[in-house]
Amino acid sequence: MIGQMELLPPPVHADLKAPLRDYWLAREAQHVKDVYAGVRIQKLPEDLRMYEHLLWVSATDTVIELGTNHGGSALWFRDRLATMVSYGRISAPMVITVDLDHTKAHRAIGEPPGVSFVTGSVTDPGLPERVAALVRPDARCLVIEDTLHTYETTRAALDGFARFVPEGGFFVVEDGIVDVPDLRPDKDHLGTGVLPAVDDFLLSPAGQGFRARPDLERYGLTCFPGGFLERHTA
Ligand SMILES: C[S@@+](CC[C@H](N)C(=O)[O-])C[C@H]1O[C@@H](n2cnc3c(N)ncnc32)[C@H](O)[C@@H]1O
Repeated sequence: MIGQMELLPPPVHADLKAPLRDYWLAREAQHVKDVYAGVRIQKLPEDLRMYEHLLWVSATDTVIELGTNHGGSALWFRDRLATMVSYGRISAPMVITVDLDHTKAHRAIGEPPGVSFVTGSVTDPGLPERVAALVRPDARCLVIEDTLHTYETTRAALDGFARFVPEGGFFVVEDGIVDVPDLRPDKDHLGTGVLPAVDDFLLSPAGQGFRARPDLERYGLTCFPGGFLERHTA
């Protein structure tokens, strides 16, 4: 759990006379310090809103999240799926969240009901089978890649986990901003190669079943440019 003083994200000021890029960089810096249910979550509100749309339109009942960190996003998805149950949209909700190390997440959120933890690397070819063992055969999965944001991890995630996405379902590759010079924050530790990995995947045999949906970047600001992929109907 984060400190009492940090239960709100740091403020951002929109100076309408300053370049839009200044506002973008402030929002990007803020989004890694946002909070859900007292736990760090690293997503823009605009991107969370788009996830709500995707969950609803695709009737997703199972979220496979690659990259847990503190676990705020796993809780957020668990709670959104519970809301969809209350509307009768789905009936068997489940969140599976994967990370190299879940120490931080267990400290922050423990072992909450509705969230299954799978510890391992997205680059491990055996990982998809470990996740498959937890997924119901008729599950409608949304897959989210939010690990290291390199070519290798993005491509491994797409190659290993695209199979879980049903027709009309979505695979969201987060943080393509690392490859867009105007959007890339000035942080040395950031990877690169997310968008080239998406492009190469879409050209591969498995990628032929998907199409990019840039029209889903509806709120103007997103950390996932080029990252909304839908499995089209055969
Ligand atoms: C950006 S954070 C995830 C943030 C979280 N999804 C959220 O929105 O709050 C990235 C996480 O990916 C994990 N990670 C890095 N490389 C990985 C790999 N090869 N396999 C699995 N997880 C990895 C890191 O340990 C880190 O916790």
